[in-house]
Amino acid sequence: MNLAIDVGSCGFRAGVQTRPDVLNEPSVVAYGQAPGPLVGQRAEQMIGRHPGHIRIAFPVEGSIVRDFEALVDVFKYMIATLLPGRFRKRFDVVLAHPSHQSQVDRKAFDEAAKAAGARRVRFVEAVLAAARGAGLPIDQPVGSLIVDLGGGATQVALISLGGVVERRTLNFGGRAIDQELVDRVQRRYAFAIGLATAERLKRMACQHVGQAKADAAAVSAHAAGAGTGGDTGADGAPDAGAAARPDAAHVAEQVSEVAAADLHRGEDTAGPATFTVRGRNLATGLPDSLAVPMTFVQESLEQYADQVLGLVRETMEACPPELVGDVMDRGIVLVGGGAQMASVLETLRRRIDVPVTADPEPQTCVIRGLLATGS
Ligand SMILES: Nc1ncnc2c1ncn2[C@@H]1O[C@H](COP(=O)(O)OP(=O)(O)OP(=O)(O)O)[C@@H](O)[C@H]1O
Ligand SMILES: [Mg+2]
Repeated sequence: MNLAIDVGSCGFRAGVQTRPDVLNEPSVVAYGQAPGPLVGQRAEQMIGRHPGHIRIAFPVEGSIVRDFEALVDVFKYMIATLLPGRFRKRFDVVLAHPSHQSQVDRKAFDEAAKAAGARRVRFVEAVLAAARGAGLPIDQPVGSLIVDLGGGATQVALISLGGVVERRTLNFGGRAIDQELVDRVQRRYAFAIGLATAERLKRMACQHVGQAKADAAAVSAHAAGAGTGGDTGADGAPDAGAAARPDAAHVAEQVSEVAAADLHRGEDTAGPATFTVRGRNLATGLPDSLAVPMTFVQESLEQYADQVLGLVRETMEACPPELVGDVMDRGIVLVGGGAQMASVLETLRRRIDVPVTADPEPQTCVIRGLLATGS
């Protein structure tokens, strides 16, 4: 039996061909509790709330193995969850690897999988698997351009005839955007927020852009003004009515999960959109709240979109003209969790004269691709 695995900086995914469901949980392990380590969702819930004797470990960062023990425990968890007992000592692993991963880190992955019980380990380049998972015709003599907006890295690859023709990597992803927001809020407002709050701020801003766009489309489609109740509801704040949106339930859940919902929609009625965050006022040293303008968050997202654009341009410049022509016809596909950043998608669409689409389930493209390879 084969186990397909993609361990990213933010999330790990695993699957077997005999099961339709895919395991998809945060890349976090917590140590220090009986009866043993907690992996994934249950470990993530402890971040920021754990007593001193509990250690929180993040196995992977970008292409680098940060915590070997935690990586082995992630593999063991996958095996225990997905493989029937009789296969737990008789299985092979197909692992996705980042394009820029060093031999040393790939060896660490190999050893970790074997320490967890795998007989053989085979590696597939993650961008290739992602392109297959996104349904691109990667085995045909036609160029497909894929952009993976991950948590630890951003990767662009041009694929044709089953191989990567050109690839570019930026060691900057969604995590770095969050960190940058933490730093910018501190510098601009002398206010300290945590990384989790920054991430939610980023997601809210993306959702706001996505919703604004959906609203605009709905308005033009129903120009007769059927009064759908509008979703700009009660206080006129741009994010009002969030509960009705596809991704909103998830975001709302995250907000309430982390200590004392520290992110709120702005109360302002007509002014620019803001979100209120809780943190520490560095002037007083006391807990406080701060209204952060959406435009402030958008600046970070715009900057990231610029970097992605630069990477796409570099890749295209290095490609044979025939393949560039294919990309112009067929467009670019975004995968990875960052593909849900509506504002980044919008900026790319505005600035490249090529169709840009995001896979509807961008975080599982790699694992779906591995499973489709006949792993
Ligand atoms: N709805 C969303 N809106 C904006 N960003 C999102 C959303 N969902 C996830 N992300 C971001 O996507 C990133 C995680 O993406 P992904 O799961 O593809 O990374 P990964 O595969 O674990 O990391 P990597 O491959 O870079 O090591 C995080 O930075 C997260 O904030
Ligand atoms: Mg990834």
